[in-house]
Amino acid sequence: MPRRIIEDHQEDFFSGLENARKYAEEAEKSSKMRFRGFLKRLLESNVKGRYLEVGAGSGILATMIAENDRDLSITALDISSDMVSVAGEYIEKKGLQSQILPITGNIEDDEFIQFQDKFDFIYSTFSLHHWKNPKTVIRNLMHLLNDGGKVMIYDLKRVWWLYWIPIENGFFKSIRAAYQPDEIESILRETNVTQYKIETISPFFLQNITLWK
Ligand SMILES: C[S@@+](CC[C@H](N)C(=O)[O-])C[C@H]1O[C@@H](n2cnc3c(N)ncnc32)[C@H](O)[C@@H]1O
Repeated sequence: MPRRIIEDHQEDFFSGLENARKYAEEAEKSSKMRFRGFLKRLLESNVKGRYLEVGAGSGILATMIAENDRDLSITALDISSDMVSVAGEYIEKKGLQSQILPITGNIEDDEFIQFQDKFDFIYSTFSLHHWKNPKTVIRNLMHLLNDGGKVMIYDLKRVWWLYWIPIENGFFKSIRAAYQPDEIESILRETNVTQYKIETISPFFLQNITLWK
């Protein structure tokens, strides 16, 4: 399996209001397909209570979840303040301000997470391959999770048949930066997580990682 390729300028997609808006537009257009596998698992889990979305981007998934269950509250965290601004506008447009709180912060920052509340369910989509230190993130997620809670991390999977396609758009760059399940397993082994499941999701370049506390 070819090695991960992480490009620094990956983050450029999320900084600057113009880029954040462009990302939001694309994410909204493809939202049904993009989040289908994740939403299916979320509905099956039927977790109630307080949710934290990590790397929430433009807030589209948070609004889909909040609209589906008007009793849920979601904190939508992102490291990019531009993304958080765009998410705030979108949440307002949908009239969901009482359910979703967009905040700027780095999930890898140990000090930042000390001041956060605890959650019953923590989820993240298409963000894992951007995290500089996934081990720190996993530890921080477990710290923020209430006992009996659950984490779901949904992301691309590096597959050789997409890796070699000579296209330089965001999707193919992300495929080259994504993890293989055995790499995720070795990250998890170095944390305190003992109960987890890693599943490949159709169409084979997606995966969902569930962690329990
Ligand atoms: C590819 S986007 C995915 C956005 C959204 N979850 C989606 O599925 O459309 C990845 C997001 O993760 C955010 N991100 C990356 N590293 C982060 C970190 N350490 N803490 C919080 N957010 C982070 C980025 O700013 C970006 O908005």
